Amino acid sequence: MNTGYTPSPTRYRTDGMKFRRCGHSGIRLPEMSLGLWHNFGGTDSYANAQAMAHYAFDHGICHFDLGNNYGPPPGSAEETFGKLMRHSFRPYRDELFISTKAGHEMWPGPFGDWGSRKSLMASLDQSLKRMGLDYVDVFYSHRYDPSTPLEETMQALADIVRQGKALYVGISKYPPAQAAQAYRYLESQGTHCLLYQGRYNLFCRLPEQEGLLQQARRNGTGFIAFSPLAQGLLTGRYLDGIPADSRMARNLFLKRDSLTPETLDRIKALDRIAARRGQTLAEMSLAWLLKDDTVTSVIIGASSTSQLADNLKALENTSFDEEELGEIDRISAG
Ligand SMILES: NC(=O)c1ccc[n+]([C@@H]2O[C@H](COP(=O)([O-])OP(=O)(O)OC[C@H]3O[C@@H](n4cnc5c(N)ncnc54)[C@H](OP(=O)(O)O)[C@@H]3O)[C@@H](O)[C@H]2O)c1
Repeated sequence: MNTGYTPSPTRYRTDGMKFRRCGHSGIRLPEMSLGLWHNFGGTDSYANAQAMAHYAFDHGICHFDLGNNYGPPPGSAEETFGKLMRHSFRPYRDELFISTKAGHEMWPGPFGDWGSRKSLMASLDQSLKRMGLDYVDVFYSHRYDPSTPLEETMQALADIVRQGKALYVGISKYPPAQAAQAYRYLESQGTHCLLYQGRYNLFCRLPEQEGLLQQARRNGTGFIAFSPLAQGLLTGRYLDGIPADSRMARNLFLKRDSLTPETLDRIKALDRIAARRGQTLAEMSLAWLLKDDTVTSVIIGASSTSQLADNLKALENTSFDEEELGEIDRISAG
């Protein structure tokens, strides 16, 4: 079924989305990307998923981030994306930058997770079928596998590029020592690591502390930040309790007990700074990640088009003065 979707002709207007060079590569990514981890599964409303995907693309968000296991049930976010391709995006494939990953548990038995060649190759074939694609733009090793030789995982990535099933590869959540090894091995195979995908937000400063940001930069690899809003904690969502339709209410990936009185105090303190800047907390949290060129793009999640609209406004002001940065650092450190 074709929905007759026509993307907004202003999606690349110069005062809208900006694009950043991804490490030392020919790729420029939108400052904001959309992740399909939540709210695009088989149990979610397709109409809402479609509205969000259209809204995103209409506003220059041309990078969609998936994973083999996104759902629920696992695999169903890729099926939803396949449907979106059929209904709306097929004529625009070359304008889209689509990523997926393998490494977390996906199917039963010894080959359904982690980083063996067998698992990665089979998983990507499944993902391509679900999405109705010939290739993805980026294929990631979703997590470091301490039981598989790193060379095996990286060789599989390099071969996937040679097979034409992915144009580029990336790694996600690798510790710094293994990331360094991965970068070197891939380079030795003539495959540059395009992206490091890591959790980075005002409540998780590990990529700075562990040197992952600097390491990626030295390697000419882009850094793309996931959960930039700490799954919703760094927004106005929980200022007055836990809404019934929120991620925290489901108590699965974002636990109710993460909202301690201390955390709520920090959220409120950050919200006051955001208000002074004339921004919502979500806008300021995203703007902070984009304040310089350390981060190539932030992969946001959303449950509605109004959240997307709010988040896009972050791009209007990503400058901070020293005083604000100091204040934010003190709150962020806890
Ligand atoms: N590589 C990895 O291992 C890994 C891990 C996690 C995520 N990721 C990627 O990163 C993407 C984003 O992760 P995430 O969903 O955790 O990102 P996030 O942006 O930190 O959180 C998204 C959630 O925050 C809430 N939210 C967003 N904008 C809001 C706004 N303006 N006002 C109020 N609430 C707002 C929504 O929660 P409600 O649903 O409650 O409305 C939304 O679902 C994923 O989809 C995935 O692609 C990768």
